[in-house]
Amino acid sequence: MIEWKDSYNIGVEKIDCQHRQLLTKLNEFFDACSKQQGKEKIEETLKFLKEYTIEHFSNEEQLMEEIDFPELAEHRKTHANFVKAVLELEETIKTKGVSVLSTIKLNRTLTDWLLNHINKCDKLIGECMATRERAV
Ligand SMILES: [Fe+2]
Repeated sequence: MIEWKDSYNIGVEKIDCQHRQLLTKLNEFFDACSKQQGKEKIEETLKFLKEYTIEHFSNEEQLMEEIDFPELAEHRKTHANFVKAVLELEETIKTKGVSVLSTIKLNRTLTDWLLNHINKCDKLIGECMATRERAV
């Protein structure tokens, strides 16, 4: 179970709130996998994770558009890659199921990606917004 830390906050309430939710959904998915809760339950939690991810990314991209975020195209690409990875994962689980080992590996990959992305890329959105607010 990966816990949210205050240092992950980017300073934009709505986005921070969604990031916390995203981590919760990730944890739920891994919990279902590691407890071997059955394919149906695992697929269901992954579906929630996928839908929430897509919704969150689109909210974040909308915000970036609003503030004329300079690295929007790059950022969008990173989001698209992650969604692609989640879709591939969904396909793999459908055809091959999940093993404990693949769960551990997956857990690392997805959470590393998310926390890394928040800390490196999303923090820039927070900074950009703060600069703009100061300019007004
Ligand atoms: Fe992002």
